[in-house]
Amino acid sequence: MRAFSLVFLVFLTVTPLSAQYGGSDRIWWDAGQGSLFPWEQDFDDPLGRVSVLNTKGAVRTTGHPFFEALGTNGRACITCHQPSNAMSISAAAISKRWQETSGKDPLFAAIDGSNCPDLPQQEASSHSLLVERGLFRIALPWPPKKVVPEFRLEVVRDPTGCNLSKTYGLESPAPAVSVFRRPRVTANLKYVVAGPEGLTFMADGRETSLEDQAVSAATGHQQATVPTREQLRQIVEFESQLYMAQSADIRGGLLTEKDGPPALGAANLRGGVVGALAPSLSFDAWRPASGAGELNTQLQFRASVARGRDVFFGRTFAPGATTCGTCHSAGITRWMDIGTTNHPMAEADPALPLFRVTCETTATPHPGLGRVIYTQDPGRALVSGKCADVGAIVMQQFRGLAARAPYFSNGSAQTIPDIVEFYERRYMFRFAPGERQDLVDFLGVL
Ligand code: HEC
Ligand code: HEC
Repeated sequence: MRAFSLVFLVFLTVTPLSAQYGGSDRIWWDAGQGSLFPWEQDFDDPLGRVSVLNTKGAVRTTGHPFFEALGTNGRACITCHQPSNAMSISAAAISKRWQETSGKDPLFAAIDGSNCPDLPQQEASSHSLLVERGLFRIALPWPPKKVVPEFRLEVVRDPTGCNLSKTYGLESPAPAVSVFRRPRVTANLKYVVAGPEGLTFMADGRETSLEDQAVSAATGHQQATVPTREQLRQIVEFESQLYMAQSADIRGGLLTEKDGPPALGAANLRGGVVGALAPSLSFDAWRPASGAGELNTQLQFRASVARGRDVFFGRTFAPGATTCGTCHSAGITRWMDIGTTNHPMAEADPALPLFRVTCETTATPHPGLGRVIYTQDPGRALVSGKCADVGAIVMQQFRGLAARAPYFSNGSAQTIPDIVEFYERRYMFRFAPGERQDLVDFLGVL
């Protein structure tokens, strides 16, 4: 086993990806390229390898609505949900694409691939939030269609010009608020479970079924007409049979060995082993036996991952003896304000818009911030209209993190250690020496 992993390690570090997959065009997936989407694909990422698995076998993509440009701007779903990027898209891949195509790829379409469609599109600065941070513009009607909001929304800072724009802004003929968000993962969707409000897709939970989500994606991102029933069926069928996870780690070797931890790898997810993260999934296979002698690098790393799992589910933090797992474990998909977009983070980032939310005196106040709230992205409140929901963001899944930086809906954490550091600052999580690294190692193999 050790010999095999060693060979594998060499393979990972010295074989260029292009040699393995027949050229870099196999890595970036273009709309309408027409090749077969294999039943299993592996891609190098900064920590090792991510795998994407089709339960139903290879998919013919010619004529398939997830892969063909449905509208006028040349984009398909696959444009922003790339297999090599864990079915999301990393800021690094976007920036590379910008350089390779001089900004001509449909990815950079004015509608949401620029800071605002009314900016001069040929200039790189008009696409800075996408190219530098991996953020797409999400424009939502304001006020929302079906609810009367409990608060007033004012624009305090508008670096992209889109919220004050006469054509696209809050005072335009079709009033809308523009926020800037990372794409989310279109795999392992079986584990997006229904909460009290039903299924909740997107950072604000505004979509409650994959069909509705696909309609919005096609008519929004792709500037297409509503897909046909058959197209929607094909999109949802494709998304629902797709699994993705890290499958190898540069230090930890293969993550999917037969007797390894049952939580790891795409095949285990497909197999239905209790969802994304569950405290019941044991990492004991990677704990060194008591009295084991000195461990090699790989076994040391694996032991660190097993300890990281214990930190995730076991280490409690004030208030309320919370663990990471209290919010993040299988069966919980909900929105929550953890402070990623609200005051004081909101004011700290001059590249993003800043809004002042003023709630009615009769509204239930926001739990931490009361009735006047500064935010970059009101999150769920843009849909519910509730003061208490300002800054509440729907939790993401944790799979394939290494392939799709940066993290959080606004991309404010550049790396996995940055995620952990956010919680240390914000929630006063205190880690014993070594625990922080163990947690980082654990997150990196999921
Ligand atoms: C221009 C880029 C782009 C294109 C094209 C695109 N998406 Fe997305 N997708 C995003 C972004 C950005 C989000 C997150 C939006 C948010 O949180 O408000 C997202 C979120 C999603 C989600 C939600 C996952 C979750 O867990 O919440 C699904 C599902 C999805 N997209 C499917 C599709 C489908 C199907 C298509 C084609 C019909 C498509 N996307 C086209 C950028 C894109
Ligand atoms: C109080 C609930 C809560 C706790 C406790 C919590 N999280 Fe989160 N977590 C969230 C929410 C909500 C988000 C979405 C925030 C956003 O995107 O702006 C999130 C997002 C994340 C993401 C982002 C994934 C991505 O795809 O961008 C990671 C990773 C993460 N949390 C790890 C952790 C770790 C590690 C801990 C423990 C140190 C932890 N969380 C504790 C609620 C929580």
